[in-house]
Amino acid sequence: MANQYIRPIIITIDGWSSCGKSTLARELASRLGFVYIDSGAMYRAITLYFTRHHIDWTDMGQVDRALQHIELSFHFNAELGRAHMHLNGENVEYLIRDLSVAERVSDVAAIGRVRDFAVAQQRRMGKDRGIVMDGRDIGTVVFPDAELKIFMTADNDIRVARRFLELRDKNPDITEADVRSNLETRDYIDSHREVSPLRQAHDAIVLDNSNLTPQEQLDIALGWARQRALAV
Ligand code: DC
Repeated sequence: MANQYIRPIIITIDGWSSCGKSTLARELASRLGFVYIDSGAMYRAITLYFTRHHIDWTDMGQVDRALQHIELSFHFNAELGRAHMHLNGENVEYLIRDLSVAERVSDVAAIGRVRDFAVAQQRRMGKDRGIVMDGRDIGTVVFPDAELKIFMTADNDIRVARRFLELRDKNPDITEADVRSNLETRDYIDSHREVSPLRQAHDAIVLDNSNLTPQEQLDIALGWARQRALAV
């Protein structure tokens, strides 16, 4: 029988906020033996830096200078089986999930210079292929030549309910209305910004996961990935 070998391809997962992109991307990467890269974490870490250092991000001089002092890296945490975002050597994985970062990140991610900075690093991370990267512009801008592009979507109420459950553990004062307003604002900014707005790539496959369990989503995506990555 012929040997089946999984080629190291690039898989992109783009879509709206809180659609479950990262859960699927992480599982998919782990099953294929690929590296998972959470591009949103990079924009979040930059936002955290700007906030801590009181950077006025409408002033491009300040933005340029600040970017020169930012070093982003992912470090694999073997205990948790996932990578954590580090900002200048500090593990900021949990801090960047805070609503205070979520409220600002879409504005920061809309700045062309910030995107150039992040995209250059994302492309370097994918130079040997064998990655699953999730975000908003990964299939359209970062890796237009990716072998598999998935565009994820889910019903609005379902997304709000999922995110609310996630955030409530850390912040018991949060309300569903806060979460809905943050999601709607982010989706609007992400899809209406001038630079690299969220768009479905013309060659992306849509995965609506409103009524799918995580296992069902994984099975579907694995099927697509294997079709493209299996070489005989
Ligand atoms: O996926 P996330 O919620 O962690 O993303 C955080 C923010 O960063 C979100 O508002 C959209 C933005 N983002 C982006 O503009 N491009 C990406 N490739 C990833 C995220």
